[in-house]
Amino acid sequence: MKLIVTSLLAALLAVSAVSSFAAGEAAPAAHDAAAAPAKVAKPDLVKGGASFAAVCASCHGADGNSGTPVNPKLAQQHPEYLVKQLQEFKSGKRKNPIMQGFASALSDDDMKNIAYWVTANKAKAGFAKDKELVTLGERIYRGGVQDRQIAACAGCHSPSGAGIPSQYPRLSGQHADYTAVQLPAFRDGGRKNSQPMSQVAAKLSDREIRALADYIAGLR
Ligand code: HEC
Ligand code: HEC
Repeated sequence: MKLIVTSLLAALLAVSAVSSFAAGEAAPAAHDAAAAPAKVAKPDLVKGGASFAAVCASCHGADGNSGTPVNPKLAQQHPEYLVKQLQEFKSGKRKNPIMQGFASALSDDDMKNIAYWVTANKAKAGFAKDKELVTLGERIYRGGVQDRQIAACAGCHSPSGAGIPSQYPRLSGQHADYTAVQLPAFRDGGRKNSQPMSQVAAKLSDREIRALADYIAGLR
């Protein structure tokens, strides 16, 4: 009798473990419930928003839509990309004296809290300015340059510039002045934190970079 009760209990427990898994709660750590909270902790959006308001908003805008063209918009950017950049500013893998200072003051949790807070804000659309350049930008963005083996940007960043979450950052609506600094930095070795982007940028001329930056600003 005791044996039956025990195995019944085990079966019930197994069922409830499966069903809570199916409900999508804390799936990876069913056996490890005590250890789980620290590891898979949800980002603390309240903390993230407070840190952003205190430290970052003055340059990146109250909701992450920077109003200053040399400071990138962060709103709606994929959180994994934001965390990667913050970690690399901190370690010096992506070099920028201003951001190295701010990123160095952040813990891994701070970075995650801020990234998940800012990604939830909608990005403000931008506008392209130069009619002639924008046609060139669009052509390269969508089709690349076949005879110089420049890959189409859309292939990774998607036709709308929304990117692909966790793999390729969002570009659409970004300030042209910011993009026009990043592409030459990838090309000339000032920004060395992405092998694929260094390769893509290697063969772009200054004019093509201006065209792409302008097109991306108006992309939606
Ligand atoms: C004094 C102005 C200033 C402040 C304050 C500031 N930033 Fe920045 N941030 C910049 C500039 C300028 C860049 C572009 C750096 C570059 O050219 O590589 C940048 C870049 C970034 C990027 C990379 C974006 C991308 O698209 O690759 C992230 C992420 C970022 N900042 C997050 C933050 C966070 C989080 C804070 C607050 C803890 C913060 N910044 C505070 C000026 C600032
Ligand atoms: C093979 C895939 C791939 C292709 C093709 C590609 N990119 Fe990227 N791009 C990336 C990745 C990956 C990153 C993120 C780099 C990082 O982690 O720092 C990136 C980052 C960028 C950034 C930096 C965004 C920011 O907020 O700082 C810009 C700008 C950019 N790409 C523009 C372009 C343009 C313009 C083209 C076409 C000429 C292009 N990319 C083609 C993969 C690609």
